[in-house]
Amino acid sequence: MLNLVILISGRGSNMQAIHRAILEGKLSVKISLILSNNPQAAGLTYAREHKIPTAVVEKMPGESRDDFDGRVIEKIESVPVDIIALAGYMRILSKKFVERFKNKIVNIHPALLPAFPGLHAQRQALEAGASQSGCTVHFVDEGCDTGPIIDQRVVEVKPGDTEESLSARILEQEHQLYSECLQLIAEGRIKVEGKKVRILK
Ligand code: GRF
Repeated sequence: MLNLVILISGRGSNMQAIHRAILEGKLSVKISLILSNNPQAAGLTYAREHKIPTAVVEKMPGESRDDFDGRVIEKIESVPVDIIALAGYMRILSKKFVERFKNKIVNIHPALLPAFPGLHAQRQALEAGASQSGCTVHFVDEGCDTGPIIDQRVVEVKPGDTEESLSARILEQEHQLYSECLQLIAEGRIKVEGKKVRILK
C-alpha cells in the first residue's frame, strides 16, 4: 500500500476528508505522517485524536527556505513515503524539495487552474465576475500552482455569492476530488507526460 505524508498549516479539512475516505474503504493508502509548519494547526488535533503520527517543523527566524525545507525533508524521510499531499500547506516549496520528490507531490487548489492561481482564489473568481470556478488537484512543480493537472471539478458561481459561500461550495468538491485523485495514484493509473497527465483505464 502507498504511504502518504500530508502537509498542513491550518484547519486540515482536506486531510480529514482523506482520512475519512480511507476509513470508508474508498482510498487505499496509509497515512504515515501528518506534518505541519504551524504548531497551532487545528488539523493536528484531529490527527492526534485519531492516532495518526504527527510532526511539527516550524520555520526559525532568519532561516532560509532551503534550510527549512531540508528539515522538512528529513522529517518526511524518517517515515515510509511514496506520495506527499499538500492540504492547505501555506508555504512555497523550494526547488530542492520539488526535485527530491518529482511527480510525487500533489496539491489541491480552490479554482480551475490555470485560472486564479495563488492566494484567495475564490475571491479572485468573484472579483473577475467568473460564472464558474471549482477546484483542481495537480502535481507540484517549481511554479506556483502550475504543475500537471490531474483532475478538476466545476462549481457554479451563484448571484449573491460571497467569498465564504463560494469557498464552502468549492470545499465540498475538494473533499471528494482529492481522495479520488489519490486513489488513481494508488492504483498506478496516473502517468505524467511533460505538462500533461494521462489517466490509464
Ligand atoms: C483549501 O481551500 C485548499 O484548496 C487550499 O487551502 C484550503 C485548505 O483548507 N489549498 P483545509 O485546511 O484543507 O481545510
